[in-house]
Amino acid sequence: MPDLGVNLCGLILPNPLVLASGPLSWNAGAIRAAWAAGAAAVVTKTIRPPATTNPMPHIAAAGGGSLLNTEGWSDLPAAQWIDRELPALRDRPGALIVSVGHTPAEVALLAGPLIAAGADALELVSYRAEDAVPMVEAAKEAVAKETVAKAAVSVPVLIKVSANWPDLVGVVRACVAAGADGVTAIDSIGPALRVDVETGRPLLGAFAWLSGVAIRPIALRTVAEVCLRHDVPVVGTGGVGRAEDVVEMMMAGATAVGAHTAPLLQGLGWFGKTLGRLESWLADHGHASLADLRGKALAHLREPASSVPLAFAFDAPACTGCERCVTVCAYAARRLSPGREMSVDRALCRSCSLCVTVCPTGALRAS
Ligand SMILES: Cc1cc2nc3c(=O)[nH]c(=O)nc-3n(C[C@H](O)[C@H](O)[C@H](O)COP(=O)(O)O)c2cc1C
Ligand code: SF4
Ligand code: SF4
Repeated sequence: MPDLGVNLCGLILPNPLVLASGPLSWNAGAIRAAWAAGAAAVVTKTIRPPATTNPMPHIAAAGGGSLLNTEGWSDLPAAQWIDRELPALRDRPGALIVSVGHTPAEVALLAGPLIAAGADALELVSYRAEDAVPMVEAAKEAVAKETVAKAAVSVPVLIKVSANWPDLVGVVRACVAAGADGVTAIDSIGPALRVDVETGRPLLGAFAWLSGVAIRPIALRTVAEVCLRHDVPVVGTGGVGRAEDVVEMMMAGATAVGAHTAPLLQGLGWFGKTLGRLESWLADHGHASLADLRGKALAHLREPASSVPLAFAFDAPACTGCERCVTVCAYAARRLSPGREMSVDRALCRSCSLCVTVCPTGALRAS
């Protein structure tokens, strides 16, 4: 059986799946349910001193495995998390990452009590890039005090970053210099908009935050950008829905993989299903350990662009005759004869690769 275990900032996890912060981690009972379903770690809903009051409605399906939301932070006050929810999780089967934000003053106020209440790690989150470093400083100060006071093991601090931040790599560099132990990348992206064409009203009545499948390429880019420049553990988060997406996130440099939209849309059974498929995928591809795949794509990102024309291979028995490869060629370079003979006009072909990437069976390949 392939080894799915990962080491996230000293937290030894049996598998890479982290339930990212959101409504599925809204209280102690919900967090327990996520561990029971297979999540190795759970990030709490973001805790701030007062509870938020969310607009109604505030979450909508946006199609294709994506969501829009206008949800704020936790609708439970910090005092309830510290006095009731976190202590109720003291005896637990998984790692507990406590999300806290959104300002340096709030982190300074809450980090100590949240660690004392049982956090295995802190995840700091803010909408403002300029808050990141002071939040890390405030959290590290609290960690140092708690560690000395309890003669305990130090609690790692992760900074959650937004793909909206223009100098993301610079912010991560400064956060690591300030003592951040890891990075969570990324938060939901926005503002974004969908309009209900039957009513003419914006979905959720406002600009909103986008998560799920639609943001995965941006999440992957962000993870890779961070990992190309920093040797720091990253919880790759954003649009992960299938076992292959977990592998892709690891290959982009992630150490562990977060998800919220997929388990929210598909139910907590998503964790067990994804772990089973991940094991099968690794076994089928001859990999003994998931962690060995970490960062596999990064070296390729350092290579220059190629100017060598593609060489095509066609596996006729695997071809269904769907003609997708023919339809998508803007230069009408590709032909499929009624007898399933594939040809390409090399004078017209620009080696763009689109035909190969739309083939549903792998009958058409390129190298
Ligand atoms: C409804 C909803 C609420 C969320 N609330 C929070 C939150 O309170 N704090 C936070 O850091 N991220 C929050 N997120 C962002 C997720 O943790 C995650 O970073 C983002 O959705 C991308 O991952 P996904 O595509 O797997 O959902 C929320 C996401 C959703 C969909
Ligand atoms: S590689 Fe691009 S240009 Fe060439 S046949 Fe395929 S789709 Fe057409
Ligand atoms: S897309 Fe693939 S399966 Fe469909 S016709 Fe082309 S080679 Fe055959």
